[in-house]
Amino acid sequence: MDVHQAIRERYSVRSYLPDPIPEDKLMRVMEAARLAPSAKNRQPWKFVLVTEQQKRDALAGFARNPFVSEAPVCIVAVCTEKDWMLSSGVHAYAVDVAIAIDHITLAAVAEGLGTCWIGDFDQQPARELLKIPDEHIIVELLPIGYPADVPGDKKRKDLREIICWETFS
Ligand SMILES: Cc1cc2nc3c(=O)[nH]c(=O)nc-3n(C[C@H](O)[C@H](O)[C@H](O)COP(=O)(O)O)c2cc1C
Repeated sequence: MDVHQAIRERYSVRSYLPDPIPEDKLMRVMEAARLAPSAKNRQPWKFVLVTEQQKRDALAGFARNPFVSEAPVCIVAVCTEKDWMLSSGVHAYAVDVAIAIDHITLAAVAEGLGTCWIGDFDQQPARELLKIPDEHIIVELLPIGYPADVPGDKKRKDLREIICWETFS
């Protein structure tokens, strides 16, 4: 699938079929995360693939979103170097891990799967559930599975609103 088509077709899937994801399909999606760029190529990430129903239910509770446990897999994207700063003053980890997650969401579309970024969740209980050390941070939860809903309209700002040339305006 062409990358532009994947970008157009991706949407936040908030209802999933219970069908399991074949492992080779899931691994092709995760390979897209592995190949993502990161500052100084530090690859400061680890992805916990959660399939057990009880754990998915608990994550859905921490996210206050029942659909999170409908998906057969919840990818928990963990940053393993959260204090690292770019010389620009920007925290590298949120950028690095977000790129990897975005690769996952687009590769998922190419595999006929859907995802939804979940940034609204309780960090500490999720970390305890998955035995993630305190020095690491969960950046996002990402349920992944076969969509059971249909995309709505893409509501986005006009291109003219978000670009300017030469100076900020
Ligand atoms: C960093 C980030 C965090 C998000 N957190 C949530 C969330 O906690 N719950 C949710 O339902 N959607 C969440 N979303 C999905 C956005 O609401 C969604 O991407 C946006 O409304 C655009 O819709 P689309 O993904 O269908 O194109 C998040 C998206 C991003 C990028």
